[in-house]
Amino acid sequence: MRSPLRSRRWFAGDDEVALANRAAVRSLGIELKTDEDRPVIGIANSASDLNPCNHGLTALAEAVKRGIWAAGGIPLEFPTISLGEELMKPSAMLYRNLMAMDVEECLRAHPLDGVVLLGNCDKTIPAQLMAAASADLPAIQVSGGTRRPGVFRGRRLAGPTDLWRFWEQRRAGELDDETWAAAEACLGCSLGACNSMGTAATMSLLTEALGMMLPGTGAITADDPRRAEAAEASGRRIVELVAGDVRPSSILTPAAFDNAIAVLAAIGGSTNAVIHLCAIAGRRGIELPLARFAELGRRVPMIVDVEPSGHALIDAFDAAGALPAVQAEIAEHLHLGVRTVGTAPLAEVLAGAAGRSAGGVIRPRADALFASGGIAVARGSLAPDGAIMKVSAASPALLRLRGRAVVFRGYEDLQARIDDPDLDVTPESVLVIAGCGPIGVPGMPEWGMAPIPRKLARQGVRDMARVTDGRMSGTSFGTVLLHAAPEAAAGGPIGLLRDGDVIDWDIPAGRADVLLSDDELAARRATAEPYRSPHLRGWPRLYQEHVMQAPDGCDLDFLRAPTPAHLRFVEPVVGRS
Ligand code: FES
Repeated sequence: MRSPLRSRRWFAGDDEVALANRAAVRSLGIELKTDEDRPVIGIANSASDLNPCNHGLTALAEAVKRGIWAAGGIPLEFPTISLGEELMKPSAMLYRNLMAMDVEECLRAHPLDGVVLLGNCDKTIPAQLMAAASADLPAIQVSGGTRRPGVFRGRRLAGPTDLWRFWEQRRAGELDDETWAAAEACLGCSLGACNSMGTAATMSLLTEALGMMLPGTGAITADDPRRAEAAEASGRRIVELVAGDVRPSSILTPAAFDNAIAVLAAIGGSTNAVIHLCAIAGRRGIELPLARFAELGRRVPMIVDVEPSGHALIDAFDAAGALPAVQAEIAEHLHLGVRTVGTAPLAEVLAGAAGRSAGGVIRPRADALFASGGIAVARGSLAPDGAIMKVSAASPALLRLRGRAVVFRGYEDLQARIDDPDLDVTPESVLVIAGCGPIGVPGMPEWGMAPIPRKLARQGVRDMARVTDGRMSGTSFGTVLLHAAPEAAAGGPIGLLRDGDVIDWDIPAGRADVLLSDDELAARRATAEPYRSPHLRGWPRLYQEHVMQAPDGCDLDFLRAPTPAHLRFVEPVVGRS
């Protein structure tokens, strides 16, 4: 028999507290009976004018409400903070954990039996999943979908992937003022998430792969009426999940994370997803070492031909069969017995999608774009705790190299010197962008895809080796070794590098070294200036004191679940406020 609804602790009974709680809801026009057995469902809405990618979520919330009412539940929508990748500085990543706390604490503090999570832009879905994993109330994710592509001089634009390309051309002196201004009008032409396989699209698909989103819905574009249908269906479904007491803990299992990692490899997804998956898993006490990404990444071919690793955009991917078609193609690498928020077993979903991937945007395994997954893991004296590279969007000729370092310390140093005509750099150099990690900025911004020095860009150089302790946009491309851990601010070797040091890496072999002796590294470390934060108050201070490194998902140490006791979501005392 099902346990009593959690919301009954607020609303059932005859005392003044229950009456006051029922009266509060009645002021919204919703009458609750003392013997009510209808689940109260929260709708966590991260819509905001400050985040155009999430703007459409308010309309979807109405569709979710229709579904909840129709299934016999009571919807209560609440706002959360919103993390917009474009306007929020230094990086929305600084605030992902804050949003996760916001959502978790809203769930804890209120009379909710389940929740529908409305997210879209890069960090909002991971934050909501982290919260759902910690709260462990029945939950279902709905994403807002990708924006319609702008058409620029006859070509459909991948935003912001094409922005990076335009910027490269502009820096090389190949793009005039008129074209640059015209591109601006076209890049921001509709609401929704980035329409290439950036972090937002990747995380939407990985949420589906984890089993926390209705199957086949992760790639529906923002303006497609099927998205409202998916939202309404999710509203209906969450009521059933509450009735069945289906909680994230029964869905977010090690097998589910393996499935997500396999899908990440197959779709050529964003490197940022590695951090987010580690963070979500950590909330359930599940370790996801980088070695697991490397292992599954080697086995699973990349079969999705979408920007920035391929050619098409997300709308074409959706038309080609979307995630179920990908999963059907790589089914041999998936755990098909996992539980999901859907009504049908995964094997049944994939049986209906099998064979839809012949040619085009989703390729058959035999015709993969890349024999192994899109993301490789490397470690060595340059990154003892590991680093990752999106090899599917890198230059094959740069995956094995030995080159001299040109070192930049932070974004301002990079901006100040990258175009200096006297910069001692050649196409064979390795640009080092240090001081961009989780602690160092703080927030680990996407500063890793440093531009090609202008004097080289004007010679036609379009890619060169780069290494950073920061991140790069999921919509970006280039040979960039990312998330080098430990970061400079935590004493990592990347912070000890000097111009002219020799970097030697073999990414396919999983190795990334700086050719310095241990004694030399120790001597430099002994005289290095320790990182001193200017942040003495507020969230940045709390973040810097507790943030973990990239291989641990950049979560705060006290939010992870090192022991079963830490998994326990302590219910509030429901009495007078
Ligand atoms: Fe929001 Fe890309 S900037 S999804």
